Amino acid sequence: MNRPNLPMRNSLATLETIVLPGDTNVHNTLFGGLLMKLIDKVAAISARRHCRRAVVTASNDGVHFHRPIQNDDVVILESFVCAVGKTSMEIFVKISTENLNRGNGRQVAAISFLTFVGLDENGNPAEVPEVFPESPEEQLLYRDRHVRKEARLKKRDETNALIQSLVDESRP
Ligand SMILES: CC(C)(COP(=O)(O)OP(=O)(O)OC[C@H]1O[C@@H](n2cnc3c(N)ncnc32)[C@H](O)[C@@H]1OP(=O)(O)O)[C@@H](O)C(=O)NCCC(=O)NCCS
Repeated sequence: MNRPNLPMRNSLATLETIVLPGDTNVHNTLFGGLLMKLIDKVAAISARRHCRRAVVTASNDGVHFHRPIQNDDVVILESFVCAVGKTSMEIFVKISTENLNRGNGRQVAAISFLTFVGLDENGNPAEVPEVFPESPEEQLLYRDRHVRKEARLKKRDETNALIQSLVDESRP
């Protein structure tokens, strides 16, 4: 049977928060780790919205911090599924900031790509719906999906090989 084919906008998720003093580092900018937690959360919502299943994070390609996020900035995270395999979903997350006092629009502060895997009732990888782009931004992301996947799986294989070589059977 053919898999359902859903538009990327179907999985759009947004999350907004304001940076408070407890969220910052010695430079008075947002902790990177806190931003990564928010990225994982919003991406998980997109993944579940797309496949209507339980999901796990398989990998995060990394966060590219383009500009610092200052104390008192509003942080806006927008995410959606931008490509799928059989059981995996690639999620694009765009992180923008807004200064409420200046009100001079939004600036992109970072982007990230993550991969989630849909799970069946037994916790095994399960098929997810296909996805298609509509807007120019979505089409741009969709165009390069194979390049990103190839680099990601190469990195996974290298990491697995490194983990194997680190295993020390003599330790309890
Ligand atoms: C992610 C996980 C489910 C993959 O399971 P697996 O037994 O390796 O399954 P497969 O090899 O069949 O891979 C399933 C899919 O995930 C993809 N995948 C697996 N590891 C990946 C990685 N590191 N990065 C990107 N994609 C990955 C595969 O390419 C495959 O995609 P496809 O079905 O679209 O072709 C498993 O490794 C796992 O449970 N990892 C721990 C997850 C976790 O604890 N996350 C943090 C908390 S949510």
